Amino acid sequence: MGKRVWKVAVVGCGAFANWQYLPNIRKEANADIVAAVDIIPERAQKACEEYNIPNWYENVYELIEKCDFDIAIDAASIQAHHEINMAVLQAGKHLISQKPAAPTVEQLNEQIDAAKKNGVKFVCVPIHAMRYDLNIAKQMMADGTIGRPYYAKCNMSHGGPEYFQYRDADPSWFFEPGAGALVDMGVHGLQIVTTLFGAAKRISCMAAVTTPERTVRSGAFNGKKIKADKIPDQYVITLDFGDGRMALVDTGFSQKATKAPQLEVYGDCGTIAVTKPYMTNPIPDVYMDSPEKGIRGWIEPMEWENPPKRLNSQCCCLADLIDAIENDTEPVLSPEHARHILEIMCKIPEAIESGAAVELETVF
Ligand SMILES: NC(=O)c1ccc[n+]([C@@H]2O[C@H](COP(=O)([O-])OP(=O)(O)OC[C@H]3O[C@@H](n4cnc5c(N)ncnc54)[C@H](O)[C@@H]3O)[C@@H](O)[C@H]2O)c1
Repeated sequence: MGKRVWKVAVVGCGAFANWQYLPNIRKEANADIVAAVDIIPERAQKACEEYNIPNWYENVYELIEKCDFDIAIDAASIQAHHEINMAVLQAGKHLISQKPAAPTVEQLNEQIDAAKKNGVKFVCVPIHAMRYDLNIAKQMMADGTIGRPYYAKCNMSHGGPEYFQYRDADPSWFFEPGAGALVDMGVHGLQIVTTLFGAAKRISCMAAVTTPERTVRSGAFNGKKIKADKIPDQYVITLDFGDGRMALVDTGFSQKATKAPQLEVYGDCGTIAVTKPYMTNPIPDVYMDSPEKGIRGWIEPMEWENPPKRLNSQCCCLADLIDAIENDTEPVLSPEHARHILEIMCKIPEAIESGAAVELETVF
């Protein structure tokens, strides 16, 4: 018997879906795209034409009513995620959600419960926990390559969605309540440092609005002015993991360019530096201080005999979900990890307001 071909529906056919999901779904897994959904029907129709997709719908309810599909990928605007995700899970379909899957921990718990109740698998992106370089870094940290790892510094910023990439969809929603730099960009940095160190115990944060008015710099809305004064666009987040381990996540829509490495991890015997684009599956740079081995300097680690999986695209989350379905295992990109990150993001306003460290409750 041939392997099952999983039927995938893409909900939200904007910049990210067109960049990563629509072109890669058929390449990343034994899967076909059976439907494109967007509240702006022309976008769903365009996706159908470009990617040879048989069905388009204007909303997730029409999709559920009329289409035979197994998996939905929610790539809609952030504010729409919770409603879409609940509809998909309650319909008994497997789900990949773009980040953040929900605005509050309670709502994400509703989604996690709905997935369990309906016996379906649920994956939450971003995909950093699947990264080749981070899995190598994590293994080196466990192996003692840099001694005792105690501090990670993560830089996760760009100049804003209206600035850094070409887009034909209006980016105004990124600056409206429910969205913003923390949940769109900070979530990446928080997933990276928690992938390496596990759940944090407490966080503190400073933040500011650096650019209260923005101008769209490309595409159909080029020149449009956007009021962006409601939510901070620069965050400096510190995390305490206990046992003297900590991290700094510098994140926002406030850095037009940077030459800072995306990530460095420091230990008492060395440093791991992640400086190259992660989709190229680089091996991290390593600095070792080992008098017993006569080494004090940057080294180039060998390729491992059994290396972690390499990534082909950000659609790797689909392979993660299908693995979990076919083997009845938990996905790498678990909703419990996403819930911990969401708790951090939800408590950041309190940390900013109080100027004090705020305790965390969730683990993964
Ligand atoms: N653009 C990026 O580089 C990038 C990177 C990583 C993650 N993301 C994430 O991907 C998601 C989408 O971002 P984007 O940049 O593609 O935005 P976008 O504005 O280009 O696309 C969002 C699309 O969702 C549609 N939509 C909104 N509400 C909907 C609903 N209820 N039902 C169906 N469709 C709906 C919009 O019409 C739009 O076409 C967000 O969660 C974002 O954080 C984007």
